[in-house]
Amino acid sequence: MSALSSPSTLLQFKPTIVVGSGLAGLSAASQLICHHVPVIMLDRAPKPGGNSMKASSGINGAPTRFQPVDNDQEFFGDTVKSAGTPFTSSVSAERLRRERLIETLTQSSPSAVYWLTDEKGVDLSKVTQLGGHSHPRTHRGAGKRPPGNSIITALLDSLNGNPLFELRTNSKVTKILREADEVMGVEYTGENDKTTTLHGPVVFATGGFAGDSHGLLSQYRPDLSGLPSTNDAREGSQPLLEQIGGALIDMDQVQVHPTGFVDQKDPSAAVKFLAAEALRGEGGILLLGEGRRFVNELDTREHVTNAVMGSATQLDGPMRQWDVSLLLDEGTVSALASHVEFYVWKGLMHKTTASELSSEAFRTLQDYADGVAGRKDDTFGRKAFGNWTLTDVKPDSVVYTGKVTPVTHFTMGGAIFDEYSRVLDKNGTAIQGLWAAGEVTGGLHGQNRLGGSSLLECVVFGRIAGDRAAAFYKKHYQIP
Ligand code: FAD
Ligand code: SIN
Repeated sequence: MSALSSPSTLLQFKPTIVVGSGLAGLSAASQLICHHVPVIMLDRAPKPGGNSMKASSGINGAPTRFQPVDNDQEFFGDTVKSAGTPFTSSVSAERLRRERLIETLTQSSPSAVYWLTDEKGVDLSKVTQLGGHSHPRTHRGAGKRPPGNSIITALLDSLNGNPLFELRTNSKVTKILREADEVMGVEYTGENDKTTTLHGPVVFATGGFAGDSHGLLSQYRPDLSGLPSTNDAREGSQPLLEQIGGALIDMDQVQVHPTGFVDQKDPSAAVKFLAAEALRGEGGILLLGEGRRFVNELDTREHVTNAVMGSATQLDGPMRQWDVSLLLDEGTVSALASHVEFYVWKGLMHKTTASELSSEAFRTLQDYADGVAGRKDDTFGRKAFGNWTLTDVKPDSVVYTGKVTPVTHFTMGGAIFDEYSRVLDKNGTAIQGLWAAGEVTGGLHGQNRLGGSSLLECVVFGRIAGDRAAAFYKKHYQIP
């Protein structure tokens, strides 16, 4: 029997090391295992899944059998447009790299969706349109579970129990080990503060730093201090890559999501539940305090956030928050029943009737309904209305409302990497034995990431990292 056919013995030998158990890390690990290469996955948290577990709107794919009218060129165009100045002002090698990253992301999007649906059994049959997209292309399941939860659970289920795979939680990587040109492993602190050294090629998938409010966020974007966040509070790990020569890019490009829920029971909470963009995608609108609409809700997050901060009243209190309401009709709610059920149960939204709204809000509602019904153009140029069905507003028309405010949500900056998921140094040279994927990387999204493109980048570049690390392992590490 060859060594490869007796995998239970393999973890005695050098493994590949995947740091981070979010979607990027799990995608890389799945590919490594598929190539029969042993994996030790390290995560500092007590439970796996990272911020990926919370993802609520879905993953982009263009085209797929769930959304056949779309195409990857339009997705490429939307992504370039959203990336803005960091993309358009880049030149020569950097411009080419950014272009190739976006090409790889968009061209691989159908296969990323099919990998999850057909190989991992995840339901992604519902498609919605998020801000900045020219078509509906964000896929989620038809059932109750949010997409992040169902994707992460499926990948973990497929890995757990495999003798080639071992997950070590409560294991915080504190150092990447580099000798000469090559990364040789990591050092991590486990339970009881014990430091352990592991040798092997490394896939780094430690996520972003939007939750690192007192560390990297305040270093690169001090102006965002005081904003609440959707992210778990944890320090960013990008400096570990920098310490071994990895270069960072776009670190000041931080996405502020326009709609985090303000819980009236704890309005100053620093970590907020996200009001998923799909709520706007399926028809929902945003109103200022007195009931006026002020923006095309399906413009990019950057644009909608700027509109909130420029038009809404800033609230008093320890956090920087604005007075804005999200309003949904019953059609929108029916498309996202389990989301809304959860928000109502949490007290983040409530059901009411149009008669309970201010007279200004009532008029706004009818104006929007006229646009949806085609009786006029939408006042803010909105073209897609999702599942909104309320076209004749009456005092007893049922609506759902909740208070929302901008929240730090995603960091576009991170390690410079290429379309092979290799981490590059400041000269653009790939560091041997090291790959990175997911939110820890930078440069792909420029100044604004489109909704649904983070889960996608995790799958696309996580799988590439896994494939590349497997080939490297087979070439450089002897399996006895
Ligand atoms: P993560 O999932 O954050 O995983 C990183 C892991 O690395 C964590 O478990 C962390 O504990 C671990 N780690 C960090 N540092 C270390 C260290 N030094 N040592 C060991 N372990 C470490 N994107 C979409 O595309 N669609 C959506 O619908 C969507 N919804 C979202 C909803 C919410 C509420 C949030 C917060 C984000 C959402 N996003 C969405 C964004 C997306 O979920 C994340 O950007 C993406 O999942 C990041 O995945 P990742 O694998 O790179 O990192
Ligand atoms: C959301 O549901 O609004 C988040 C989607 C994303 O961040 O891609």
